[in-house]
Amino acid sequence: MSDQRRMHDRPAAATASAHAPRPGDVPGRDLALRPVAVSALVWERLTRLRDRRAAGLAGDWSEAERAALDLYAPLARRGGGGAILGQIGQSLDGRVATESGDARDVSGADGLAHLHRLRALSDAVVIGVRTALHDRPSLTVRLVEGRNPARVVIDPAARLPDDAQVFNDDGARRIVIQSVAAPRPAGVEVVDLPRVDGWIDPRAIVAALEGLGLRHLLVEGGAITIAQFLDAGLLSRLHVAVAPLIIGTGPQSLTTRPVETLAQALRPPMAVYGLGSDILFDCATGG
Ligand SMILES: NC(=O)c1ccc[n+]([C@@H]2O[C@H](COP(=O)([O-])OP(=O)(O)OC[C@H]3O[C@@H](n4cnc5c(N)ncnc54)[C@H](OP(=O)(O)O)[C@@H]3O)[C@@H](O)[C@H]2O)c1
Repeated sequence: MSDQRRMHDRPAAATASAHAPRPGDVPGRDLALRPVAVSALVWERLTRLRDRRAAGLAGDWSEAERAALDLYAPLARRGGGGAILGQIGQSLDGRVATESGDARDVSGADGLAHLHRLRALSDAVVIGVRTALHDRPSLTVRLVEGRNPARVVIDPAARLPDDAQVFNDDGARRIVIQSVAAPRPAGVEVVDLPRVDGWIDPRAIVAALEGLGLRHLLVEGGAITIAQFLDAGLLSRLHVAVAPLIIGTGPQSLTTRPVETLAQALRPPMAVYGLGSDILFDCATGG
């Protein structure tokens, strides 16, 4: 079955709730761009928050540092419920790669640093098997100070080879979600979940990861995987980092279930941040 066909086959009820109008949803409001500066002191406070240590956020911050705290502190804070964030780095025309598959560095340097900050503040990064196969990402934190999150790959048919980059034994937890019995490299944790109509229920994935102590999740792609979580109403926030290039054709950044009219389009409340090289749309998608 084609991916497009599978997307259309997903349950309508989940999409309806994800796309329902929300109170306070006023398009165009709060769209003033706030430049972000993540100084060493700001980052130290954020990592303290993530580690459940006291971290006073009051202080004589610059406007851009205050914007950084507003953007990242809710993601760093622990103690409440879990949180699931989707992140996309895309071109102006909503592409994540060329037709030939060149996907490296769609985001600019500051967009990439933003992504690494999100990884450092998360318990686990979740990707789909197509991204794992195509991009061979390491999903580590290299551009900022911070620890590597657990790596989770959704690979229902066990297509990922044992020498996949995400299985690299570098000390981080490695987890695979699968629907068929298949041996995996030593040290890789296996979560078996059934597919229904071709898909594993994303809620079951979240519950299984919670059972493994992973509650703050970064769903990093690709389009199919993020759409699964968004359509199920599970993403509390969606970060869309737009880089100033036009690719023209190529894979889209997001492929949610189609709607007929623009009135049915998802219009989440959002804030806009200037990262430097890229512009970030921080969308409150609920979940
Ligand atoms: N710029 C960015 O932010 C960014 C980030 C990541 C990736 N990418 C790009 O995105 C592209 C790949 O994305 P993609 O959308 O084609 O694929 P993908 O989301 O990486 O992987 C999709 C596959 O993962 C499995 N999967 C995910 N969720 C599932 C669920 N709930 N139930 C069952 N299976 C599930 C399925 O595997 P099966 O096919 O085995 O059924 C599905 O076809 C690449 O070009 C990559 O470069 C861009």
